[in-house]
Amino acid sequence: MKTGIIVYSYTGNTLSVAEKLKEAIEKKGHDCTIEKIAVNEDYDPNNDMGKFTILESPDPTKYDFLVLAGSVIAFSLSPVMKRYCKTVKAIEDKKIALLVTQHLPFAWMGGNRALRRMEKMCTFKKAVICAKEVINWSRKDREERITSATNRIASLV
Ligand SMILES: Cc1cc2nc3c(=O)[nH]c(=O)nc-3n(C[C@H](O)[C@H](O)[C@H](O)COP(=O)(O)O)c2cc1C
Repeated sequence: MKTGIIVYSYTGNTLSVAEKLKEAIEKKGHDCTIEKIAVNEDYDPNNDMGKFTILESPDPTKYDFLVLAGSVIAFSLSPVMKRYCKTVKAIEDKKIALLVTQHLPFAWMGGNRALRRMEKMCTFKKAVICAKEVINWSRKDREERITSATNRIASLV
């Protein structure tokens, strides 16, 4: 099964989880590619979170299984991932796992909301959501949670 992980990561946190997920998927004998959503280099969500241009928007059509990985900004989905989900085409009937990272320790502190937002946009385009995972960066058990979340997603591929 050809799997694509489409990620937007500002600090590298989400990308590091995507890399672990790629390893877990490859261990199961599947092809896996990470593709980054690229924005203008000087984009800084701390200054003006809505001011950016998407320069590279990965094409989901070549994958049988898709993972969308983003983060929480201001208690919601990061504006870059929001715009990607809004504009992405041809995800009808595609199996998609959603993954977000956030600093705060509990998913109800923005992570669940970000997932709901992503899910709504993807199901509107008739994608099939098969997993939703939040990684809370400030938790002591973060590494264990990353391992279990990535294994859960990998088991669905
Ligand atoms: C401008 C800004 C706002 C943020 N707002 C939140 C927030 O509301 N809740 C939270 O838990 N984390 C928040 N974070 C932290 C990020 O979600 C967290 O560090 C995440 O892992 C970043 O992943 P990434 O840089 O790989 O995308 C914020 C980070 C930035 C830069």
